[in-house]
Amino acid sequence: MRFDVITIFPEYLAPLELSLMGKARESGKVDLHLTNLRDFAFDRHKTVDDTPYGGGAGMVMKPEPWGLALDQALANSPASAREPLLIVPSPAGAVFNQQMAYDLAEEDHIVFAPARYEGIDERVLDWAETEFRVLPVSIGDYVLYGGEVAVMVMIEAITRLIPGAMGNPESLAEESHTGGLLEYPVYTKPATWRDEEVPPVLLSGNHGAIARWRRDEQIKRTFARRPDMVKAYPAENWDKKDRKLLQELHTEQKAAKKAEREAELSSEG
Ligand code: ADE
Repeated sequence: MRFDVITIFPEYLAPLELSLMGKARESGKVDLHLTNLRDFAFDRHKTVDDTPYGGGAGMVMKPEPWGLALDQALANSPASAREPLLIVPSPAGAVFNQQMAYDLAEEDHIVFAPARYEGIDERVLDWAETEFRVLPVSIGDYVLYGGEVAVMVMIEAITRLIPGAMGNPESLAEESHTGGLLEYPVYTKPATWRDEEVPPVLLSGNHGAIARWRRDEQIKRTFARRPDMVKAYPAENWDKKDRKLLQELHTEQKAAKKAEREAELSSEG
């Protein structure tokens, strides 16, 4: 996989040299190229922004440096690559998630165009449609100063799904957001810490009981934190014990809500 990132802050992406991400680069599984957009600004001040036509607040990124930087990314596209994908991080894009990361891990060449200021001159994005598949992507419903952090999030989430790029492939199959439920809690030595014990079942050596306990914990966690994921979980994948537990959780939840309402009424009363 080749990643190109075109940015006025290449140093922002330095953490991608570290840890497993750094190893993935060393192993050749990912080929990451950072391009400083200012290398394509030819005036004395290396200007990459200007005031918006029509007036208004802030500055807009000029089209010429972006055009040249994108030309370079195209020229460097691996011969095997189909039309490269251009990801434009934006709070107005489609929201990034684990499924999108899996889909993107299948690409050969992804170019990221993180913007600063009020954004990039729209003609760059219109022109890019003729050479790239263009995808505006948001990493969540909040606004960052610029797209660089969003690029780091995406590159890390995608890289660990590239075969051979991850430390421990088994942890992929079990992780949150892959199986449709959140992960179970984990513990390590010592067995007692600040008077807190590790759940005894984990010390029992009973693999069946451990698997059941972990499954129950996954369901409880997902129910409490991500009811949307419980709703979306394929009904045929719940076993009998799952269904019994879900029923209990629903009953508990109803009782808690009722108690809350009664407490509210009595405090108003
Ligand atoms: N740029 C600014 N905010 C962003 C967000 N939430 N996602 C992606 N890019 C952004």
